[in-house]
Amino acid sequence: MRINLFRPKTKPFLERVIIRTLVKRDLKALEWDGEFAHFRHLYADSYERMLRGQNLMWVAELPGTGIIGQVFIQLNCSQPELADGHTRAYFFSFRVQPAFRNLGLGTLIIKTVENDLRQRGYSILTLNVAKDNPRARKLYERHGFKVTGQEPGVWSYIDHQGFWRHVNEPAWRMEKKL
Ligand SMILES: CC(C)(COP(=O)(O)OP(=O)(O)OC[C@H]1O[C@@H](n2cnc3c(N)ncnc32)[C@H](O)[C@@H]1OP(=O)(O)O)[C@@H](O)C(=O)NCCC(=O)NCCS
Repeated sequence: MRINLFRPKTKPFLERVIIRTLVKRDLKALEWDGEFAHFRHLYADSYERMLRGQNLMWVAELPGTGIIGQVFIQLNCSQPELADGHTRAYFFSFRVQPAFRNLGLGTLIIKTVENDLRQRGYSILTLNVAKDNPRARKLYERHGFKVTGQEPGVWSYIDHQGFWRHVNEPAWRMEKKL
């Protein structure tokens, strides 16, 4: 007698992930249990800019788990060589939670935001990658980004406890034609 064992098939990981723009209730999840709480005000400002149409905050959600990845896109800013509101957009704050890295999610996020920007009429994507992050630079090169310059990477922000934090992160400027 043949026994039919029913084994429910789980969809592959990447097919279960939903990539969408952030809604206000997601903001807390960007803090990753406290590790990125120091960016709370920056995230809130970024959200306000999204409401004004100046940027886009993308998140990757795994149903049942929550937000596991993110990237923000600045559509215009005070540095038109980075983002000018119609041709150039700037890619930043890209991260995937460690447990979900090296599974292709970062690549899926990059492709999703690139397609979205093409539809919005943008033709160049810019980013800065820290010089001490060669793996990320390699990933961007695999996606067609080329180094076009350098950035001192010096900037400051106020953290969630009201203290100034100073960042000194020399970076490569990279660009890609969409
Ligand atoms: C960069 C990052 C978003 C890629 O996400 P991902 O889901 O792992 O990406 P994919 O699975 O599509 O691609 C894997 C590639 O990511 C890169 N990568 C993997 N781990 C990384 C890490 N800790 N830091 C930087 N890049 C990493 C590598 O190029 C890797 O390819 P390799 O195995 O051939 O070296 C993710 O690794 C991350 O969050 N890193 C820490 C934050 C960071 O460095 N962000 C970029 C800032 S410019």
